[in-house]
Formats: sequence, C-alpha cells, structure tokens
Amino acid sequence: MNLTNSTAALDGAPVNRLDRLPASDSPADRKAAAPARRPGLFRLVAADLRAKAEWNYGRVAFATLVKVLLTDGTAAMVWYRLMQWARRWRLYPLELLFNRVNSFYCNCVIGRGAEFGPGFVLIHGTGIVINGGVRGGANVKLEHQVTIGAEKRQNPVLGDDVFVGAGAKVIGPVTVGSGARIGANAVVVHDVPERATMVGIPARVVRVRTPEEAGDGGSDARMVVNS
Ligand SMILES: CC(C)(COP(=O)(O)OP(=O)(O)OC[C@H]1O[C@@H](n2cnc3c(N)ncnc32)[C@H](O)[C@@H]1OP(=O)(O)O)[C@@H](O)C(=O)NCCC(=O)NCCS
Repeated sequence: MNLTNSTAALDGAPVNRLDRLPASDSPADRKAAAPARRPGLFRLVAADLRAKAEWNYGRVAFATLVKVLLTDGTAAMVWYRLMQWARRWRLYPLELLFNRVNSFYCNCVIGRGAEFGPGFVLIHGTGIVINGGVRGGANVKLEHQVTIGAEKRQNPVLGDDVFVGAGAKVIGPVTVGSGARIGANAVVVHDVPERATMVGIPARVVRVRTPEEAGDGGSDARMVVNS
C-alpha cells in the first residue's frame, strides 16, 4: 500500500485523470488506462471472512468459514462493509442505518468514511472505535477495545498486514508501516516503522522483524480463538 497516497489508492481513482489518458484508442490501451476498480461488496466480505478463518484457525475451509460466521466480531465486520457499500453508492440513509446498527448491536463504532482494504478482520468487535478519516491497507487485524482516532482533526494511516492488540490506541497523524504489530494496551503517537513491534505508553519499538520473518503476514502473533 502506498502510504503517501493511501486514500487515492483505496478509491481506485487517479489523482490526475489526465495522467491516465490512453496512449492510443486501442481497446488494450483503454483497458490499461482505466482506474483500478475497487472490489465489490461480496468480494470484500469474502476476503474478510477468509482472512479471519486463516487467522483464527490457520486454514480456509468450509468448516472454518462456518465457525468464523458464528464468531463474535464477524457481524461487525459485515455491518462495516455494508456501510461502506451504501456510502459508495450514496445511499445515505442506509449508510447511517448500518453505522448505527453496528454501534448499537455490536458496540463497534466505525466512522462512516473509514476505509480499509480487503482482509479487514475484527477478532472481537466490542469496544472498537475508529474515526471516519482513518485509512488502512489490506489485511488489517484489530482486537477488541482498539481506538484509532484523530488528534487535531488529523488521522492515522495504517499500512498492509498491520495487527493492533487489545486495548491499544493509535492517535493523530501517524503512519503505521506495513507489517507492524501494536502490542496490547500500547498508545501509538509517533510513526511506526515497517514490521516493527510497538509496546508501552507512549509506544516504543521493541523489535523489527526482517522481511523473511514477516513473510507470513505476522502469523506468529496469531491468537487462537476458541469460539
Ligand atoms: C506485541 C505482540 C503482538 C507480540 O509481538 P512480538 O513482535 O512477537 O513481540 P515479542 O513477544 O517478541 O515481545 C517483545 C518485547 O515486548 C514485550 N511485550 C510484548 N507485548 C507487550 C505488551 N502488550 N505490553 C508491554 N510489553 C510487551 C515482551 O515482553 C518483550 O519484552 P522483552 O524483549 O524485554 O522480553 C503481543 O505481545 C501482543 O501484545 N499481542 C496482543 C494480543 C491480544 O490483544 N490478545 C487478545 C486476545 S483476546
């Protein structure tokens, strides 16, 4: 994920459309010039469920997907994707409804503009608060009681494959590098290097994994959920 232009990357919209004009009028050039399309609702939900099955049970199979559907946090993930879908199609009453349902029934408050890429996992949804200006890449995983919020109206940007432990807070205009892990109850107020582990208040780097160690997307931080 390009952290410097994450919003444009998630929207799939080029910053300057003139840059994307086809070199010629051939169908191949037109296809190459078209902005990347954002995955649709069903593909996003499927990617999220697969990512949660992989994280919780170590494999994606019919049985583990059924278990994921019955696990807490999954409903909040689906309400969030429905809200995002309604927002994309400018169905404002539905967007607001899905937002309210998520906070009322799942105790999970995700601002209406918050954007996360495919593989977004709420391991437990309860107590999560995310500001509407937050941007996250693919395969972001959050435990319960996580807050990702603004300071002076400036929001965090999370890279790909980021894990945030229970009770952690990520606050203000910080960039969390891809592959980073935020320990339980940490308070992140400064930028996080790629693949770093942050713990404490204020959070400090205690470890930086090599790309080889992080190659599995941080699976050694996986928490097995018995539900
Ligand atoms: C941070 C975490 C992801 C582990 O990442 P890691 O890169 O494997 O880090 P390590 O386990 O090697 O720990 C590195 C150091 O940080 C310390 N540490 C780990 N997590 C910590 C935390 N949350 N707060 C304070 N210190 C912590 C370790 O004791 C270790 O210190 P040491 O080097 O002095 O021994 C994990 O400890 C964690 O906090 N996970 C959250 C799990 C969670 O929320 N579970 C809820 C399930 S319901």
